[in-house]
Parts: sequence; structure tokens; C-alpha cells
Amino acid sequence: MNWWRRHPDHRVAVAPSLLAADFTDLRRDIASMEEAGVDLLHLDVMDAHFVPNLTFGPFICAAVRRCTGLVLDAHLMMTDPDRYLGAFVDAGVDAITIHAESASPLAATLDRIGALGCRRGASLNPDSDIACLEPVLDRVDLVLVMTVKPGFGGQSFDPRGLEKIRRLARLRRQAGLDFAISVDGGVNDRTAPDCREAGADILVSGTWFCEKTDRKGAAGLLRGLSR
Ligand code: DX5
Ligand code: ZN
Repeated sequence: MNWWRRHPDHRVAVAPSLLAADFTDLRRDIASMEEAGVDLLHLDVMDAHFVPNLTFGPFICAAVRRCTGLVLDAHLMMTDPDRYLGAFVDAGVDAITIHAESASPLAATLDRIGALGCRRGASLNPDSDIACLEPVLDRVDLVLVMTVKPGFGGQSFDPRGLEKIRRLARLRRQAGLDFAISVDGGVNDRTAPDCREAGADILVSGTWFCEKTDRKGAAGLLRGLSR
């Protein structure tokens, strides 16, 4: 079984983005995600420099860790993630995803993440070409394809990501690799089928998923399962 999958029956894993969670009652909100059978949690860390928004850092990630045993993926939208890896590892996240466009050296930072005992994720902005990631595909556990410009939730899905997912799935097959393909931004019940079809393994959904009162049903819709 792949490291990110909790339920062998699921065609794709569902990863709510906590960006849209209820931070006035985070423990309860996370418990409702667990009850809905989500597979992992996506933590959007923004530094107000790499992106024009500021969210949270290791301190909140550690609080999330205390609320749940779910796999935690920290999506670091930071100019220099390399400087903060130790703090996120100490916070107890399971995977750390960095951007190819950050100032940290991509391959060396991914290696450091692995050496620190975390899963290694690499992400790509919508305007960046997959070629930026090709040299490091043999040293990642996860590729996060951005289908919105990073910085804010609630934007609409950029369909250019679908071709990237297809290309990654092809490259993975050709090279005999086994990284997960995750898609992030504007994922909902209407965009999820194309993502699944293209070959995504993990669907990150913030606004759409968190707004749903029937989250079990929402997870089922993202997975393409009948309720
Ligand atoms: C964007 C973040 C995403 C995003 C997901 O910078 O990385 O995780 O907030 O939220 P929705 O689903 O609202 O696009
Ligand atoms: Zn994200």
C-alpha cells in the first residue's frame, strides 16, 4: 500500500486543506474530517514573501498533530523552506512539500527532508513547466501540481494542470517510479473527475470540502464513489 493511502478501497485519496477549516474550533473540525474518512490533511504554510499571504507555521502544525493521527502534509509556500525544515519535522508533520520556484536548492532540500525522516514533496506553480521537476523525480515521494496560483483558497481550477498530471503519470510509469501525484487548487465535485481521469492520486480540497456539512458525502463525490 502506498504511504499516503489509508483505505485500500479508495481510488484516490482525499486531503482537505486546513486553510478553509474552522480555526475557532480546530479539534472539532479535524474530528469531523476524520469521521468523514479523509486520507490525509494538507497544511498550507505561507510566508507573506513567496506568496502575498501569511498563514501559520510549525506552532499550528504541532497543534494539529496533537489533534489527529492522520498523515499531515505541510505545503510550504515559502521563499526559503530549507531554513525551517527542522521546525516542521519537530512539529510532527509526515510530509514536507516545497516549491520548485523557491530559493532553496531543490534536490538538496528534498534530500534533507528525507534525511530528517519525512516524505519528500515537490510542488510546481501553474505557470512553471514540469521540466523543472524532471531532474528530481527519482527523489520525491509526492509531486503537488498547483491548479491555482498559490496564496489563496477559493480560486478557480486551472485546467493546464491536467496535462501536467498526465505527463507525470507517464514519466512515472516510464521510469518505474512510485511517487504520488497530488493536485491542489479549485478541486471540487466538478473538477475532481478530470483530475482522477488524468491520474491524480491525491485530491486536495479546501473551500469546497470544508464548506460541506455532509463531509462523508463530499469525500465520496471527490473519489467518484456513489454515496
Ligand atoms: C493555495 C493552497 C491550496 C488551496 C486549496 O495556495 O495551496 O491548498 O488553498 O484551497 P481551495 O480548494 O479553496 O482552492
Ligand atoms: Zn496547498
